[in-house]
Amino acid sequence: MKLPFLIALLVCVYSESALEATIGESCEKNPNYVINSFVVTPWPLIRTQQYNIFISGVFIEKEYVKQLYFATRFKRGFWHYTYQSVYVEYEKGSQANFTISIQAPSEKGPYTDQVSLHRHDFSKIACWQYDYDL
Ligand SMILES: *[C@@H]1O[C@H](CO)[C@@H](O)[C@H](O)[C@H]1NC(C)=O
Repeated sequence: MKLPFLIALLVCVYSESALEATIGESCEKNPNYVINSFVVTPWPLIRTQQYNIFISGVFIEKEYVKQLYFATRFKRGFWHYTYQSVYVEYEKGSQANFTISIQAPSEKGPYTDQVSLHRHDFSKIACWQYDYDL
């Protein structure tokens, strides 16, 4: 009676952690927006399926965020960019979240994705990168 219950519980805990993960690492040496949570759901990604990225962090300095760029690269080839306009000023020390909803590519193979926040002059406020295989 006890063992099946334990197995069911373990499966439940495992599947929950597998569907949501904080992944990747900073690709900006001195970011002014420090990311402390970068969650991709569902994880691992499924080909052609819509997925969400939830980013949570803090602005070290006052910043005007013009755009959020999403870049993806297949087999170390060219970067393909999409962006969303933000046009929001954030106070020094303020906490802010960003969400991205995007469709996973269809080709099998290794990918690298990069999310970055940009100022008016296109300089980077923050950058985050992660790899995956489809
Ligand atoms: C950002 O997300 C966190 C975690 O979900 C939440 O606690 C916080 O209130 C959010 N901050 C803003 C500014 O929406």
